[in-house]
Amino acid sequence: MRKKASLKDIKDSNLFLLEKLKEVEAEEKEVVTQVEREKFNLIGKPTSRVDGREIVTGRASYTHDLSFEGMLIGKILRCPHACAQILSLDLSRAMRVPGVKAAIQLQKGRIKYAGDQVAAVAACDEKSAERALGEIKVEYKILPHAVTVERAMEEGAPQVHEDKPNVEKFFEYSHGDVEKGFKEADVILERTYKTAVEIHHPLETHASVARWEGENLIVWDSTQGIFSVRDGLARALNIPASRVKVIKKYMGGGFGSKLSVNDHTIVAAKLARLTGKPVKIMLSRKENALCVGNRPSSLQTIKGGAKRDGTLTALYLKNYACGGIIPGDECADPLREIYKCPNVKVVEYTVYTNTGASRPTRAPGLVQGTFALDGFLDELAAEIGIDPLELRKKNYSLRNLADTGKPYSTKGLDKCYELGAKAIGWEKRNKKPGEGKGRVRRGLGMASQIWWGAGVPGTKAMIKLHPDGSIEAISGTQDLGGGTRTMMAVIAAESLGVSPEDITVKIGDTDYPWAVLSGGSLTVPSVGPAIRDASLKAADFLKEKVANKWGIKRDEVAIEEKRFYNQKNPAESISFKDLVRELHREEAFHGEYTGRPAGFAYNSFGAHFVEVEVDVETGKIRVLKVVAVHEVGQVVNKKTAESQVIGGVTQGVSAALFEERIVDEETGNLVNPNLSDYKIATSFDIPEIIPIFVDMVDPRISNIGAKGLGEPPRIPIAAAIANAVYNAIGVHPREIPITPERVLELLKRKELER
Ligand code: MOS
Repeated sequence: MRKKASLKDIKDSNLFLLEKLKEVEAEEKEVVTQVEREKFNLIGKPTSRVDGREIVTGRASYTHDLSFEGMLIGKILRCPHACAQILSLDLSRAMRVPGVKAAIQLQKGRIKYAGDQVAAVAACDEKSAERALGEIKVEYKILPHAVTVERAMEEGAPQVHEDKPNVEKFFEYSHGDVEKGFKEADVILERTYKTAVEIHHPLETHASVARWEGENLIVWDSTQGIFSVRDGLARALNIPASRVKVIKKYMGGGFGSKLSVNDHTIVAAKLARLTGKPVKIMLSRKENALCVGNRPSSLQTIKGGAKRDGTLTALYLKNYACGGIIPGDECADPLREIYKCPNVKVVEYTVYTNTGASRPTRAPGLVQGTFALDGFLDELAAEIGIDPLELRKKNYSLRNLADTGKPYSTKGLDKCYELGAKAIGWEKRNKKPGEGKGRVRRGLGMASQIWWGAGVPGTKAMIKLHPDGSIEAISGTQDLGGGTRTMMAVIAAESLGVSPEDITVKIGDTDYPWAVLSGGSLTVPSVGPAIRDASLKAADFLKEKVANKWGIKRDEVAIEEKRFYNQKNPAESISFKDLVRELHREEAFHGEYTGRPAGFAYNSFGAHFVEVEVDVETGKIRVLKVVAVHEVGQVVNKKTAESQVIGGVTQGVSAALFEERIVDEETGNLVNPNLSDYKIATSFDIPEIIPIFVDMVDPRISNIGAKGLGEPPRIPIAAAIANAVYNAIGVHPREIPITPERVLELLKRKELER
């Protein structure tokens, strides 16, 4: 598909040489804009979900809905102390509760956070299981804890892990020489940004049903990765993976909290084996907040230097990330990758606390990192006296400096800037932050975004053609809500010249061909090309049959609207149905995503433009409008892609304004483990959201040219809101959530500084 051949000659090794890259840059830009686009009938257009009716009518089956003859309900007893030693545990009274079939101890020794599992029961109904939990006698020796970052970092604080200090360096990186960069700078600024711990809170809490059939285990799970759950279960139970089957039909979100096997799923399998009955464990909303992950907090200090004209000369990041009992997120990716800065240095520490382990949360690290970096850039722009958008354009990079300096295969961020600025009316912004008057001040802000955009090679799919004309598209992927089935139906239908409704999609079963887990925005760029590959093979097979029939070449056969045509003589045609009838038996075609050329960086890009209103008396922020522009290569389904953007922006608005897990210093327990005290955005808080896609295709990444979109719309939104608030009131919010109290504090600080 590429027009220019010269790029092909540039070998990987050369790409490390910056001199060579300079020559490439100009050419590179041309190549990506000149690429010949394949003409698609369905791909890129809006298609309604093939399973939409099933979902909205309540017929779609979620793990919560499952019920089997004789099924037991499992429940888990959790430690109420943030740090404690289990001295003794007695299950005998619990076993005597009527209806209880099994009770097991899950842990001995030291418990490191409030909410960790201690014991479990299985009973014939929920009430009996609940009662049994109350009858388990545990004797704890309560130990001192550190549940906040501040406490954990204090001298002499209780040590979270016996074998390591509470603060540990876990990431370091540099390119260029920051000291030199700071010497070259005309302006140097240093600012500290803080992001709170967020809870994933998917609409559907975690749930698993386990059933044994002899030596074989079948698990229905609300999961983003059926294969990772299968392999995790096999390891935990010490049985072969070949004896575990995991099924997932529908789920109500995951956002990273359902990527791998959960403790409760293993517990369900153990209880099922013990009782010989199917066992279902559903986590409560509180358990969801306690023990299945969260987005780690960050405390990021950025020091940056720039020339008077806005050229960045140095960026330095120091971060303290807190992921509870495990390390937090690296937040440096945006700073290392998105802008052209020749001198970058990063040092990140993790702070351990006696709180539940973090887990990847929609764009882990990049959400926190972008809040700090893109907020910092607006403060730097104001200091220099340059338009914040100009500052970003000034430091536009055509290569990924952190990814060994490779040029981006495609990068439409410049187009995002152009389209976004136009749609929001960028010229309306306050030229100087806070120059507006009155009680309610308006402001505009923006932020950019980068994300890993490519898929995982080895992801497989299969197309089955049946003589009755029906078509199956099969892959061991899963839909975490983004519309995987529709994406597969659209690509298969496009390739086979039929309609999406003609495709029966089968996913969510480990008996199907392997596919990567649904996280990391990987599904479309991994499963999409595999389905395309399988469908094109099926199409070629059918074309070959037609060609033989008519005595022409395969390439002379076209397939469109359920008919095969002789391109040279369109009058000669045969319907899809009539042709496949001649197959007599089913035919299967295997497809795979085999990867992309090395030597290029493959990333998704975007920019959000936001308009806010700030009431300077109450401190309340209203996000009025969000223009979310993304460049993700070829969009597969415009409708679900827009939904993905609306969802990501909504979640980001929520995190920017409301979301914060609060832990009580004294007891070490969560203060807000529910959805009334942990506020998430409601329809009243959601602004007008305008999703826009840059019309582009990545010619190298795969046979469909699509990059990942799941995470990108979640990344820049909080920074864009903070920047808009800055533009409105003239003082920058450096901490999310930006609550009314914090806005009032900022305004007070501004008064004092005057
Ligand atoms: Mo995502 S955090 O990989 O579900």
